[in-house]
Amino acid sequence: MELKKQIQALGEEAKKLISEAIDIEKLNQIRVEFLGKKGKLKNILKTLGKLSPEERKEIGQLANKIKEELEQLLKGRQEELKKKALEEELSKNKIDITLPPHWIEAGASHPVISTLIEISETFISMGFSVAEGPEVEKEEYNFDMLNIPKDHPARDMQDTFFLNNGDVLRTHTSPVQIRTMLKQKPPIAVIAPGRVYRKDADPTHSPMFHQIEGLLVDENVTFRDLKGILKVFLETTFGKDIPIRFRPSYFPFTEPSAEVDIGCTVCGGKGCRVCKGTGWLEILGCGMVDPNVFKAVDIDPDKYTGFAFGLGVERIAMLKYRITDIRLLFTGDLRFNHQFKGIR
Ligand code: DAH
Repeated sequence: MELKKQIQALGEEAKKLISEAIDIEKLNQIRVEFLGKKGKLKNILKTLGKLSPEERKEIGQLANKIKEELEQLLKGRQEELKKKALEEELSKNKIDITLPPHWIEAGASHPVISTLIEISETFISMGFSVAEGPEVEKEEYNFDMLNIPKDHPARDMQDTFFLNNGDVLRTHTSPVQIRTMLKQKPPIAVIAPGRVYRKDADPTHSPMFHQIEGLLVDENVTFRDLKGILKVFLETTFGKDIPIRFRPSYFPFTEPSAEVDIGCTVCGGKGCRVCKGTGWLEILGCGMVDPNVFKAVDIDPDKYTGFAFGLGVERIAMLKYRITDIRLLFTGDLRFNHQFKGIR
């Protein structure tokens, strides 16, 4: 029977092509060519009408059997090809999971910078904004206009770095007070964090260190306001229970002036080497802006009052993290710095 042979031959041809197909696309072509609506098998079956019922049944069964066989083969070959493609992909992008990793050491914020940012944020949260000034400063702003006269010991060559042109490396952040008040009229509430320089080097002094200056000027500002603001700052920095005391002092640019002490963070007030047996640690200088400073920047001292304060960031960082030698902060030794990972 001619038709039967034709169908079998067709089956053989398709089987061969399937086994030789090299990708899924080729498989799809074969499927369409042989089993599709207009495929070769359908075409042959169109001639079925001419046959007797028995022949029709026999051929029909044969065609179905071949169709099922081919479908099975297509499916199997498809799985094989998929697996092969995956294996190729994997061998191309090989990852050796037994290799040791390349460690990338995460950086750590320097304790001085962390402390500086933390303190700044406390004042910013109370409404202060941040002001800046240059590290190379006019002698006039660093001293004269802050009511520090020409013969004041702070100007001594021992303390101040003088430049050839008569400028200085600022010895404190207080000149930013002057710069701010020359630019802006009250109400003023600024802090000025930054580097300052002094000819000084020992376990508690470094020729470069950081200060944060504060200045608040408005009508009716009193010493009580100063105390309130500093109390918030000290409690935020050292904890709610930190003992605080204000001690009368002298600064040329404030009158009255005070120094603020906190209970020794090392011995808790009993007296130790760090607090030199007193139980107290000096933490900052402050006071009410001296009328002479207001006059120098053309602000009316009869109308306005204000307070100012200045603190050393290294000192606070040392007390907070119990660092006993300031020089450790400037060695750049990563083993030291990494001990402060995660404090911010
Ligand atoms: N400028 C002072 C210093 O470097 C610190 C200081 C004290 C700043 C009292 C102030 C202040 O604003 O009111 O030692």
